[in-house]
Amino acid sequence: MTQHSAEGTRTKVKNLKTLNNTVLSWLKISIFLLALIPLTKLAINACTDNLGANPIEKITHVTGYWTLSFLLITLTVTPLRRLTGWSWLVRCRRMLGLFAFFYACLHFSTYLVLDQFFDWASIVKDIVKRPYITVGFPAFVLLIPLAITSNNRLIKLIGGKRWLTLHRLIYPIAIGGVIHFWWLVKKDITEPLTFALLLAVLLAIRLIYWGRTKWA
Ligand code: HEM
Repeated sequence: MTQHSAEGTRTKVKNLKTLNNTVLSWLKISIFLLALIPLTKLAINACTDNLGANPIEKITHVTGYWTLSFLLITLTVTPLRRLTGWSWLVRCRRMLGLFAFFYACLHFSTYLVLDQFFDWASIVKDIVKRPYITVGFPAFVLLIPLAITSNNRLIKLIGGKRWLTLHRLIYPIAIGGVIHFWWLVKKDITEPLTFALLLAVLLAIRLIYWGRTKWA
């Protein structure tokens, strides 16, 4: 590699570490639009009668799948930032987490409105009797305080340290989401197993960093 091109590569890497505000804004807009693709596809398929034999099952599947996916994508931000030094990644994290909550709301609403028709007695029965709902329901409820406190005003109000402690709830939520998925599949466990392995890697990376700083 010539000295010129090596310098060029170094500048590019440095540029990736610190994006300017215009690039970051465009990146955020792109993430926002990309995150809406699953919902847009669902809406198009619903309008064109293409949701298959069981539309409610299909909507539950897509919204549940993307809730869990966004939870894991959000959990990827910190390890990826540490590995690459791309500090701007943190500025995209809130939006990713809020998309997890957005899809969780759609997922729960599908169950509440289309599946159960607001039959609260049957919902309570489900929470008690079906183990995957027993785990899924608290996971959803715990997401609510995280979503509510995901704005600068409330972070200031409750204080950074308490906010950080509260937002550690994302770990039991993600674990609950994976267990919920695992328990509801009947035969092929490939998908929940993939989510479980990814989550295990993300949590292991955190444990390693935590161990290093504790014993450094
Ligand atoms: C953070 C919370 C949650 C996550 C991450 C999550 C995720 C998922 C995932 C990935 C699926 C599998 C989709 C499929 O392949 O069919 C699923 C299905 C389902 N979820 Fe959730 N879920 C959550 C909360 C809830 C809650 C609160 C309820 C209702 C009280 C619920 C009810 C259901 C139902 C009824 C199914 C379909 C089960 C079936 O196919 O028989 N989920 N969820």
